[in-house]
Amino acid sequence: MPIKIAPSILSADFGRLADEVKAIATADYVHVDVMDGHFVPNLTIGPLVIEAVKRATTLPLDVHLMIEDAERWVPAFAKAGADLIGVHVEACPHLHRTLHQIRDLGKRPCVVLNPATPLEAIEWVLGDVDQVLIMSVNPGFGGQQLIASALDKIRRLRRMIDQRGHRVDIEIDGGVKLDNIAEVAAAGVDVVVSGSGVFGTRDYARTIAAMRAAANGPT
Ligand code: DX5
Ligand code: ZN
Repeated sequence: MPIKIAPSILSADFGRLADEVKAIATADYVHVDVMDGHFVPNLTIGPLVIEAVKRATTLPLDVHLMIEDAERWVPAFAKAGADLIGVHVEACPHLHRTLHQIRDLGKRPCVVLNPATPLEAIEWVLGDVDQVLIMSVNPGFGGQQLIASALDKIRRLRRMIDQRGHRVDIEIDGGVKLDNIAEVAAAGVDVVVSGSGVFGTRDYARTIAAMRAAANGPT
């Protein structure tokens, strides 16, 4: 399967958000970063902005919740137009219940791991998710350097998923750009998030096309 590209609008110009979202129409998902100032040291957006993004695109919204008390907020993000909803292992004491809450609302559950969190933390929910997001930076900000050990983690997760016969996408988030996407793809990811790597360039469609070509290798 070709790699999916999910530009993170965290690095977009929020004053022109609808146009910025329209300019990434050739991507596969729109990745939306929700931060609460508690779980991560930054504050971003809520359901209102997700509704606005939804109106500007037909692409699925991949909503990454970096918030405490996710169970309380999941229904509001589902209603606002999220298609995939990602929740952090480290922020969900009742992770299994939260993932099923997402599924029951008709959305695709995704579980997210911080760089220091071992894969064992998701062993018993692998059958309950559509996607696992491996953070390759400590969440909170765009424009950070990829932490190389995330690639070993992805290789190990790929084996874990394949051995158990699950159908789960692996997504990576943080520090991925055109110059390292080939290496990231080779580790076994299905979905690549890129914020500054897309919105920091002049021609987003061209960057997305170049990323696809680099990730999928020579055809
Ligand atoms: C970080 C966010 C990322 C961020 C990635 O907390 O989850 O989605 O926008 O930005 P880049 O690609 O610039 O590292
Ligand atoms: Zn993210």
